[in-house]
Amino acid sequence: MPLSTRVLLINPASPDPAIIKEAAAVLQAGGLVAFPTETVYGLGADATDAAAVARIFEAKGRPATDPLIVHIAQLTDLDVVARDVPPLLHLLAEQFWPGALTLILPRNDRIPASVSAGRDTVAVRMPSHPVARALIQAAGVPIAAPSANLFSHTSPTTAQHVLDDLEGRIDLVLDGGATPIGVESTVLDLTAPVPTLLRPGGVSLEQLQDVVPQMQVREQFLAQDEVAAAPGQLLKHYAPHAQLTIYEGERQAVLSRLRVDVAAAVDAGGLVGILVTDKLQFKQAIVIAVGETPEAVASHLYAALREFDGHDVTHIFAYLPLEQGGIADAIRDRLIRAAEGRVVRVDSIG
Ligand code: TXA
Ligand code: MG
Repeated sequence: MPLSTRVLLINPASPDPAIIKEAAAVLQAGGLVAFPTETVYGLGADATDAAAVARIFEAKGRPATDPLIVHIAQLTDLDVVARDVPPLLHLLAEQFWPGALTLILPRNDRIPASVSAGRDTVAVRMPSHPVARALIQAAGVPIAAPSANLFSHTSPTTAQHVLDDLEGRIDLVLDGGATPIGVESTVLDLTAPVPTLLRPGGVSLEQLQDVVPQMQVREQFLAQDEVAAAPGQLLKHYAPHAQLTIYEGERQAVLSRLRVDVAAAVDAGGLVGILVTDKLQFKQAIVIAVGETPEAVASHLYAALREFDGHDVTHIFAYLPLEQGGIADAIRDRLIRAAEGRVVRVDSIG
């Protein structure tokens, strides 16, 4: 039996306490509430309630081997979620919390093992979005929340994206408009012998290195059979329905190559979407320009991929030349996963 999913509009800057109270009551009763964070929408449940957590996996079609992030509102909430917290956490929390940084810590027994897919570690984040903060506070419990999309699909940056994937599967969506950052949080493992970056995201590598110079970066893009050993690192992730290909190289050369590849795809009966930074005319293709700064690209990227899904394109060709570093690292990570590694490098015209 599908649920009827309610949607409540909420002011993202100063959320109405009555609406927050209503949403918190749903969480306290073991229900599922999707809510905006500064990165993407999360699908929340009481992290201390194993039955509620099981509903997250069920609603998303997420394998039980893929652990969730637990969201807290203040540092004292850590006592319920983690144990043996290293001094480094406080340094990082001072700099980056609340914000787009998730830290892996030893798991406290109050958090059911299923939250962490059976591991004895737990991912923790203190989001900065006023709606997320108010909701966690009002619920009075830490909130387990993965991105509020169907497993493997593109993460949601609007309430409509959440409904497109999860309507009838969850109790409530708090619609606080588009999420400002647009890509997920950075994940840093503090339980490894050396702090290790597992996923680039809203907090940049450079920002982290200032506080944790000894940090390592984990080898990315593992094969599918390595997934269980390294949850969340599988290549096919954040994916639109169409086949995505990334183009890299000098602009004129890439554009020439694109014309050839678009024509070939159209001749074969396909419909092509082109993802670029700036406006571009392209015969025979649907073009979406996501903006010229890395921040603009990050905040529009997932909506653009979903828009292509809406047009039922068969191919997406992405050409997003951005300087490395900052949030561009997260953009490239997500694109390469969505493209399952398909990158075409065009070095010269010919
Ligand atoms: O910005 C975000 O992080 C959003 C918002 C809602 O907070 N959440 C999010 O959650 O992106 P999700 O479930 O889509 O991604 C969680 C990531 C995955 O890569 C997962 O494997 C990793 O965190 N993770 C969670 N617990 C872990 C653990 N104990 N050890 C290693 N990785 C873990
Ligand atoms: Mg996700």
